Amino acid sequence: MEVLVCPDETHAHALVAKILTTRVAERPDIVLGLATGRTMIGVYDHLSRSDISFRDVTSFNLDEYVGLAADDPRSFAAYMKRHYIDPLELDPARVHVPDGIAPDLTAAASAYENSIARAGGIALQLVGIGRTGHIGFNEPISSLRSRTRDKVLTPATRAQNADDFGGDPAAVPKRALTMGVGTILDSSELILLATGEAKADVVAEAVEGPIAARVSASAIQLHNKAKVILDEAAASRLTRRDYYDFVFLNEPKWDGYRHLVATNLEGGDQKDTQS
Ligand code: F6R
Repeated sequence: MEVLVCPDETHAHALVAKILTTRVAERPDIVLGLATGRTMIGVYDHLSRSDISFRDVTSFNLDEYVGLAADDPRSFAAYMKRHYIDPLELDPARVHVPDGIAPDLTAAASAYENSIARAGGIALQLVGIGRTGHIGFNEPISSLRSRTRDKVLTPATRAQNADDFGGDPAAVPKRALTMGVGTILDSSELILLATGEAKADVVAEAVEGPIAARVSASAIQLHNKAKVILDEAAASRLTRRDYYDFVFLNEPKWDGYRHLVATNLEGGDQKDTQS
């Protein structure tokens, strides 16, 4: 795992966008796993201003609220249309979001897993983190081997997302169809993006705490190509920060990226690696 700390959220968005556009430039028909939420809006904004076309990309979103149709403005499908499909002028058929109004959620979940497999699996998965430690909507004590299924949301998550529902947590759907932790871990590369002070404690638990179903994001420690990209505020409770910065400064693979975070890094010329 690598932890890359940017001076502020704009730099963090730019860094994630640069990794995504680099992967798409290398392989225009790449399969991406995508996320919604406030954290990701700035990333999609950067992508929409990039010269790299996402026209041939196939993507699978992490999750959708149960009971919301794709044309409901509060759905994650509508979010993807607003922030990704329309600004990047993409074919909606290539942008997959779980079907929150499927009559048989179990069948829809297994069909979603099958579509990911048929597409060849997810090459790069982007995730945010909720204050409960969820990735996707894998709330605390989700199995670390879980697959796509419907999941009951915690009151904390419904409160976190209430702004999209007129500020009323009770108006937030109680369930979501979400990729499982195991589905997320199957991706070839994983990026967790978190910004803001409100995420600092849970980021420290996920990155430096024990791997535990209590904090499903801690499962990223099991992934062999995971990057955690943070702003200063979200990184503020990490204890091994010197080491994370040292690696970022000295790993040749980050040469073309360092200017995006360099303002908060200092010196260092030795080589070292994180694994
Ligand atoms: C969204 C998702 C969630 C969010 C998380 C953070 O598709 O799966 O895990 O990434 O709840 O949300 P924000 O970015 O709104 O704080």
